This record gives sequence, C-alpha cells and structure tokens, in this order.
Amino acid sequence: FSKTTCVKKLAESPSLTSIPSTYAFTKDPQEDEAVSEDPEDPIPVIDFSLLAYGTPDQRSTIIQELGRACKDWGFFMVINHGVPERLIERVIEGIRGFFDLTEEEKREFEGKNVLDTIRCGTSFNTSFDKVFFWRDFLKVIIQHPHHLHFPNKPAGFSEVSLEYCQRIRGVVRELLKGISESLGLEASYIHKAMNLESAGLQAFVANLYPPCPQPDLAMGLPPHSDHGLLTLVTQNGIGGLQLKRNGKWVNVHALPNSLLVNTSDQLEVVSNGKYKSNVHRAVVNKKATRISLAIVNGPPLDTIIGPSPELVKKESSQPKYIEIKYKDYLGLHQTNKLYGKASLDRIRISND
Ligand code: SIN
Ligand code: FE2
Repeated sequence: FSKTTCVKKLAESPSLTSIPSTYAFTKDPQEDEAVSEDPEDPIPVIDFSLLAYGTPDQRSTIIQELGRACKDWGFFMVINHGVPERLIERVIEGIRGFFDLTEEEKREFEGKNVLDTIRCGTSFNTSFDKVFFWRDFLKVIIQHPHHLHFPNKPAGFSEVSLEYCQRIRGVVRELLKGISESLGLEASYIHKAMNLESAGLQAFVANLYPPCPQPDLAMGLPPHSDHGLLTLVTQNGIGGLQLKRNGKWVNVHALPNSLLVNTSDQLEVVSNGKYKSNVHRAVVNKKATRISLAIVNGPPLDTIIGPSPELVKKESSQPKYIEIKYKDYLGLHQTNKLYGKASLDRIRISND
C-alpha cells in the first residue's frame, strides 16, 4: 500500500467518475462477453452430505458426478458441506474489518516477498503488472500443522479464519477422496501421493473489489488457473466470478450457502491431464463492493509434485508434466504474470 494506493481508497474518492488510465485494459469485446449458464448444461452441483455420509450407492453416484465435474468443467458448487453459515459470515466480516484498517495499520502486514506468510497489497504483483487490477488483497500462507499465523487485527479475525480454514480442510479431504476414486485409484491415493495426511498448505486469499465507475474497462483478476489442488471460494453475496467453458465466459451464480470449487493445477498434474485446471477470472461492477475468499489447498511445500505413476501405467501413457517441488511451483506462479495457464505451461512436457 505504500508504493501503490489501494483501490479501496481510490474508489472512495467522491470525485471519481472514470478510472485512472493505469487500470484501463484494452479488451477484445467478443472474447470478453460473458453468458449466463446454459440450462441444458448447468454448472455441476455436488451434495457433500451424500459423499461423506451417504449409502454406498449414493456415494458412488456422487463420485461419478465429481469425476464428470472435474473432467468437463473443472468447477463445481458444493452444497450441504456442513461449514456453518454463521462462521462464513464472520470470516467475511473479519475480512471487511481488515480492509477497513488504516493504511498505517495495514502497512504492518504488507510483506516483501511472495512467499511471506502474511502479505497484503493491491493488483496482483505491482512490481510487474503493467495495468493494475481493480482489486486489493490479503494473502496468508498457512502450513499445517506448524505455521498458523494470521493478522492480529481486527479483533477475533485470526480465530474465525483459522477455524474456517480447518473446516475447509475437512471438506477438501472428503472431496479429494471422492476425486481419487473417480480416477479409479484408492480413496487415500491423492493424500498419500501428496503427503497430505498430517500436513498441507492453505493459502487464504481475501479479495476486495470496490465499486468501479467503468467496470467494462477494468479487471478484478485476469484469466488464470490456481496453483494448488482445489480452491474453495465464498463471497459476500455479490457475483463476479466467471469461468471459461468451451471458449466462452460463463457467469457463476452461486447457490445460497454453497462453496465454489475450482480444480487447480496440481489436480491436472497428478491426474496427468485427465482433469484440467480451470481458467477463471473476476469482473467488477459499478454498484457494490465485492468480497471473495479463496482458500487454495495444496500439499506441503517440500512435496515433489508430478503425474501419478499408477495412472500413467494404467492408461499406458507417458508423463505429461515434469516433477517439481511444490514450493518452486508456487514461486513460479506468484512471480510471473498471472495469465491463463502460464505456470502450468512451463512444466508441461511437449511431445512435438
Ligand atoms: C480467485 O481467482 O481465486 C477468486 C476469484 C474471485 O474473486 O471469485
Ligand atoms: Fe483463482
């Protein structure tokens, strides 16, 4: 916030009727237009209670649906997940309270390096973003079970956020079991392969998108895929997330009290490309402040990631991605331009 003003402050200026040119993108209108969900081809909805507590038949139906969602969409909404609505509201209130701190107070949490455990700022990476995104953020990297540090302001924020992350870990655990099975592997496969049993990384990424006088010219977050296995997103009731689906942008209308799940790069890697990480972006609007919270769930930082040898063998295929330490992959993702699948493309084995 010291080098570049946060967007929140900029947007609060009563005289702001157009955006500064540093936030204006030149867009291809055809590429950009988003459509509503096709009723014939709805965004998949996964009933978590049936996955976790259903009969064997119900569970196997959900596993098939999960597999289809990962293969065809790379995205699904989870309902009946058991994370209390009130807890989600309290975390969102905490995030709002954090962004409402003074610039001076926030400076304490600014961080310097992309792998710092607490970091707040604006855009994605202001040291190389050519045009800035209409977004302020707070990123906290949590490494279970050792590094669980949150900003100590506002009061209570740290406690509710840690509880929320813990609950999300539980949901992710069940989803990954189902996803392993949908790949024809044993339920614990991904957990074992990724050393997730007793450890794991979560990146808590809170986004604030203030009202924007020219939403068609600005971008909240550019098209990108996430670096972990699964990212679980919640928001303050205001939409803005869009998915790339068959070359078109689709608006996500979140079901009430659902968790939005993006399948991410590590799922593409471990499944050797059978499941693709999903490309999504965040658009902004004229009227309302949007807050979203993305919890990126990945393996411990020292895990070597790579395609599952069992899957490669089963499908008589070849590994499509090189092996790399997750920490290095995360560094790659955070220090390059956030665009499409730029990081994944760097570890893809080309067969040409
Ligand atoms: C994300 O890209 O992870 C979050 C986008 C959003 O604000 O919904
Ligand atoms: Fe994302």
